[in-house]
Order: sequence, then C-alpha cells, then structure tokens
Amino acid sequence: MAPVELVLAGAGGRGMYAYGPYALAHPDDVRFVAVAEPDAARRAAFAELHGIAAEHCYADWRELLSRPQLGAGAVITTQDHEHTGPALAALVAGYDVLLEKPIAPTLAECVGLVRAAERHGRVLQICHVLRYTGFFTALHAILQQGRLGDLVTVEHRENVAAYHMAHSYVRGNWRRAADSNPMILAKCCHDLDILVWNLARPCLRLSSFGSLLHFRPEHAPPGAPARCTDGCPAEAQCPFSATAIYLDGLPMPWLADRDPQAQPPLPVAPPQFPFTALTRDPSYAGRLAALRDGPYGRCVYRCDNDVVDHQVVSMEFAGGVSVVLTMHGHSDEEHRSMRYDGTRATLHGRFGAHSALSIHDHRTGAVEHVPLDGAGTGHGGGDAGLMRSFVRVLRGSEDARSAARTALESHILGFAAEHARLSGTVVSLDAFRAVAEALV
Ligand SMILES: NC(=O)c1ccc[n+]([C@@H]2O[C@H](COP(=O)([O-])OP(=O)(O)OC[C@H]3O[C@@H](n4cnc5c(N)ncnc54)[C@H](O)[C@@H]3O)[C@@H](O)[C@H]2O)c1
Repeated sequence: MAPVELVLAGAGGRGMYAYGPYALAHPDDVRFVAVAEPDAARRAAFAELHGIAAEHCYADWRELLSRPQLGAGAVITTQDHEHTGPALAALVAGYDVLLEKPIAPTLAECVGLVRAAERHGRVLQICHVLRYTGFFTALHAILQQGRLGDLVTVEHRENVAAYHMAHSYVRGNWRRAADSNPMILAKCCHDLDILVWNLARPCLRLSSFGSLLHFRPEHAPPGAPARCTDGCPAEAQCPFSATAIYLDGLPMPWLADRDPQAQPPLPVAPPQFPFTALTRDPSYAGRLAALRDGPYGRCVYRCDNDVVDHQVVSMEFAGGVSVVLTMHGHSDEEHRSMRYDGTRATLHGRFGAHSALSIHDHRTGAVEHVPLDGAGTGHGGGDAGLMRSFVRVLRGSEDARSAARTALESHILGFAAEHARLSGTVVSLDAFRAVAEALV
C-alpha cells in the first residue's frame, strides 16, 4: 500500500520532533510531501529530513493551504493562537486534519472548528496523545471491565517538574494566558480528556482554586539581575537558574552524554525537550548565546508571566462520583499520578519515568501489578501512537479516539474551570455546555 501523504504547518517542537520522526521511522506508512514554516532554518531542516521538493516548501500556512490539495492529511502544529486559521483552511481545502491541542484559545473557536469539520465531512483529530499510550489504554480497559466495582472517587495529579514549569509557563511560550491559553487548558486538557474518557459519564458541576504563587517579582532574591547570565548573586542556590538548567542540565539526570572536549566535561544537549525550544545549536556556546539573547535566560522572577503555578479542580460527575484534578509546577519530577477508588478495589497509577499500574482488592488484599506495554519515548509512546492512529483513520481502518467532538468536552471543562477559578463560583456544566453550543 502506498504511504499516506501529509502536509505540515509549523515545523517547530512538535512538528519537527514529535510527529516528523514517525514518518522517518515508518516510510512505508506515511510521508510528508509539503511543509509551511516561516523560520527558514527550520523549514530547510524539515524539508531536507523528509526529502520535500523546494516547490512544496512555504513560508506560511496560507500559501500551502490555498493551493490545490497536496496530500490526504494536514498536520497542524502551529502555536495555540494559530490553530483556528490553518485548521479551517485545511478543512476547506479538503484535508483531513490532525490538530495540536488545545483546539483553540476560545470556546467559541473550539466549537466552530468542531462544527466546521462536521459540515465538511472531514476528520479533525486532536493531539490528545495520552489516549494512545499503553498506560492509559490499560487503565481505561480496567475501568471498562468493572474491575474496581462501582467508581466512587478519583484523584488525578499532573505534577509538572519545577524546571518544566520555569521553561514553558514562566519563561516560555505558555507563560501568558492571553497569548496562549490558561494553564488548566494548555497543560491539563490532556488530563481532563483522560478523566472524561475514563468516567464515561458527564461532569455535572465543578469549582476551582489556584493562583500564581511563586514566580512573582517580590520573590526575586536581592540583587538578582534580569538575566541569569548577568552574574546573579543567588545563582548557586536558585532552583530555576537558567545556567544550571540549560548549561549544566542539573535537574535532568538522563543527560548522561558529556562533551569530553570541554573542561570540566559538560552535558551535550540532546535533540529533545527543553533544549529543542532553546536553540538549534546544542553546543555549550550555542546554548549560552541563546540564554544571553532569548527568553530562556531571563530571571524567573522578572518575566511577564501571568499563568498559575498551581490549580485544583473539584468535579461532580453523574452518579455522584467525585473527582479532584490537581495541577502544579513545583514537582521534583515530571509525572502524573492517580488513584481510582471503587466499591471492590482501588487502582493506583503513575505515568512518567517508571510508570506503574496496580489494582488492590478490598476483600483479599491481593495486589495485581498490571503489565504495561513498552512505554516508548514522546509522552510514553503517545506521540507515535497518535500518528499511527491518524494514518489508520485516513486509511479508513479505525475511528479516531480523539476526534474533535470527543475532545471538545475536555475543553468545555477547562474553560469552565478557569471561569470557576476567576469568579469563585460553582459552575453548572449543563448551563456551560448550552452557552458553548450557542456561541457559534
Ligand atoms: N500534544 C502535546 O502533548 C503537546 C505538547 C507540547 C505542545 N503542544 C502544542 O503543540 C503546538 C506547537 O507547539 P510547539 O512547541 O511545537 O511550538 P513551536 O513554537 O516550537 O512551533 C510552532 C511552529 O509554527 C511556526 N509558525 C508560526 N507561524 C506560522 C505560519 N504562519 N505558518 C506556518 N508555521 C508557522 C513557528 O515558526 C514554529 O516553528 C502548540 O499548540 C502546543 O500547545 C502539544
């Protein structure tokens, strides 16, 4: 069978490093035949890697998507505020679309895109990659089989590592809600989607609390300059020091490779998060230059960030099941942790490094450790699983697990949670859903 042909809008972190590699590893399955990317170096690098002809390289998604269709599917991996335009243009041009999450920065745009896909009779699959991991597939199956009895209460935590918080939500692209999304959507539309999937019943009402507690100017150490590279007196103790994170790779023990030419030997930045966002030159000099000039060298207490660094959402689902989602950016390590308590058993889960899933039986006390499929890299294998699925959906051999209509519910919960947090109210989801449908 000929490979499915795709076009890409946005050859940044996700396009280049999350979905591009799947095509390179599975050339018989899928191949990219066109790319739109304004950054000339990224565009050239993606085109070279994928053997894309020069006439199919564009500086803007508008140029690509206003031309006659070049492949069956369009992969849209532009930034959050640049999803609606290219996704709509691709649907109109006749592409089936794989769109990065969150769907769009407003609920009206989210609903509008879902409806547009339905109107045009096209696939719009959202990159809710967790649904495609072995871990969450196994957890979902356990719940569907009724192994826990009747579900009573769920606790789900999204523990964002402190360096990741500083990178993405203080210094980086998702630091300001107005330029991207509130953090409960930017980070947790995945988690809300997993909860909606697993509970398989509607959320009735929710409340939410949270704030930006730490990364504020009043917490700057005395004498801290605007950049960590400018001789900060607190550099040796600060957990968020840019030089410690990006030059020494301090909180990242997996950076085992050291540059032997450097004295003392320095970690080599691999082509992976967070270094891929910092610079395309991973050498020590390249990273230092990026810290001096770019956003990632800034003192975390002197950025223009406004998104929260912790938030809880309390939810009541149909049948009286209570659910608490906790998200915070002060974790020692990046991972999600969860427990589902039912009338017959409790499930404990941990997703991240050393993923584990176990079922604890109330009657016998027996503990079953659930075997997990090889975790894989890139969201525990979710990035590759999603691309595999998109190809199968385009071939007509499976339905999209994260179709936009399905994904919309998590976004409704996310926008409702942010409204609840800001207004200090309990939000009724029926009313909120009715407003969402009336928005477009
Ligand atoms: N599914 C996940 O788990 C996951 C993880 C991280 C990020 N994301 C989402 O993926 C999206 C992309 O994130 P990223 O980290 O790759 O961002 P990025 O900034 O690294 O990449 C976006 C790319 O789009 C390009 N671009 C800008 N304007 C364009 C235009 N007019 N035409 C074509 N390309 C254009 C930029 O130059 C950039 O290279 C975001 O919406 C983000 O929230 C999803």
